[in-house]
Amino acid sequence: MPLILDTPSESSIESVYDIHEERRRLHHDADVVVVGAGVLGSALAVAFADQGRSVILLEKSLKEPDRIVGELLQPGGVQALEKLGLRHCLDDIDAITVKGYGVFYYGKAVEIPYPSNAVEQSEGNEKLNKISKRAEGRSFHHGRFISKLRAAALSHPNITVFETEVTSLVTSNSERTPGIIGVQTLTKKVQQDYFFGSLTVVADGYNSKFRKQYSTVTPISKSKFWGLELHHDSCPLPMPNHGHVILSEVAPILLYQIGSHETRALIDIPENTPSASVAAGGVKNYLTNAVLPNIPSSVRPSFQAAIEAGHLRSMPNSFLPPTVNRTPGLALLGDALNMRHPLTGGGMTVALNDVVLIKSLLSPETVPDLDDATLVLRQLRAFHWQRKNLTAVINILAQALYSLFAADDKQLKYLQRGCFRYFQLGGNCIDGPVGLLAGIIRQPLVLFYHFFSVAFLSIWVMLCEQGVVGALTGWSAVQGVLIFYKACVVLFPYIWAECQS
Ligand SMILES: Cc1cc2nc3c(=O)[nH]c(=O)nc-3n(C[C@H](O)[C@H](O)[C@H](O)COP(=O)(O)OP(=O)(O)OC[C@H]3O[C@@H](n4cnc5c(N)ncnc54)[C@H](O)[C@@H]3O)c2cc1C
Ligand SMILES: *[C@@H]1O[C@H](CO)[C@@H](O)[C@H](O)[C@H]1NC(C)=O
Repeated sequence: MPLILDTPSESSIESVYDIHEERRRLHHDADVVVVGAGVLGSALAVAFADQGRSVILLEKSLKEPDRIVGELLQPGGVQALEKLGLRHCLDDIDAITVKGYGVFYYGKAVEIPYPSNAVEQSEGNEKLNKISKRAEGRSFHHGRFISKLRAAALSHPNITVFETEVTSLVTSNSERTPGIIGVQTLTKKVQQDYFFGSLTVVADGYNSKFRKQYSTVTPISKSKFWGLELHHDSCPLPMPNHGHVILSEVAPILLYQIGSHETRALIDIPENTPSASVAAGGVKNYLTNAVLPNIPSSVRPSFQAAIEAGHLRSMPNSFLPPTVNRTPGLALLGDALNMRHPLTGGGMTVALNDVVLIKSLLSPETVPDLDDATLVLRQLRAFHWQRKNLTAVINILAQALYSLFAADDKQLKYLQRGCFRYFQLGGNCIDGPVGLLAGIIRQPLVLFYHFFSVAFLSIWVMLCEQGVVGALTGWSAVQGVLIFYKACVVLFPYIWAECQS
């Protein structure tokens, strides 16, 4: 509309939107280009757009994903969604309320409810209500949740979504402004395109194509999760609305409901497990012979039916410690930046809390112009350290707990048993660990405290087993030292990994 000087600001603001929209659509130019519309990319696009940034979101396939990952969102992730104004993405997807965990150890069970959320100060009865309100997570079909996040991005006036596969990052060759200025893509496998932004965010997931070039670390994977989908109706789980962790002579097994009628089973199979090798009859045989007998009896029929139905799928369980982004114009985020074993279901909680933190560190008030690459890099360094309180806890806990739960030597088996005994004590011995796992307690020292409490309890249990005389022998002393040593060997490398930049 040309020159209508005295009309109210509404239409002129609209035309500013239009200009930005047109620049994205026609010129492929925005403040931020986000690669990958997964958990992190979709949420981050909305977060930036809500701040008035102009955002281009690129995704290779907008079809609803069908994957065995990201199906249980911890309470700390639900809280992050709330902060981002995206809580509604958990509505109408047939999500299941998760109230905590059930740990099954050689048939014995202990319930581990999520603790209460931090109590907000308020008066009288209201306060009582809030104290009694326990934190809740949600489990669901991954694809349905992603589709909701994408829908939020698609309907946002400050975001334009393109279905196209990013093939390479575009580097500026000017000496004055080195760094990444955008991406090259392939649309429908034939058409080459370019997209440009002041900041390019790479959030292309666990198998990131661009990580290798811009990061010094590579993922390590020592096991895979094999996924089965069970019918829930005829075989309900022993502890409804809880994630089930099954510990037995095989590596850990997870069971949780992901819809009114469906239950997910994830079976960890460490690399080079002889009984799962092709020679021994492969994974299907392993599931029938080694895993099935350890499944709670009420679930066994649906587990067996799922094995027989086939459709087995697997994903590598990776560990990738985070590093500082050093390339001007670029930010590597989500699984592309940092991964931990999915045993504790922490990935999406980390991703969503990272979005909350990035949103504040790169807000227009702090960084008016994202072209200021030096300032952006400084803020990304701050991001690396500030995210530790939550993510270091989740990363270390996932890795350490996996070592115990997949115990493959004598000391680890002692620690595994000690851990279960610790949970049986109840009170703070469960509130602490599950509060850390849930993303509610954000204090690395609390993790340290509980981990070594488990180690000492394991030694104590071992000594008690020996009886008064046995406990005084040299053998027990050696075992005690070995258990303690093992606990250190399990924990310290992961703490060390978090101290790197
Ligand atoms: C077996 C398993 C189970 C898990 N279970 C849980 C769980 O219960 N709870 C939990 O919180 N976390 C879980 N996780 C971790 C969680 O799935 C991830 O942390 C999370 O999905 C990471 O989000 P992201 O956005 O970084 O990556 P993704 O969600 O993988 O998204 C990446 C996106 O990028 C797109 N993309 C990739 N390459 C390109 C390209 N070149 N061009 C354009 N687009 C591209 C992809 O199509 C995809 O949409 C699990 C992981 C595994 C392996
Ligand atoms: C979109 O961006 C504009 C600034 O360009 C901002 O004023 C507006 O609030 C944003 N819209 C939404 C829905 O957040």
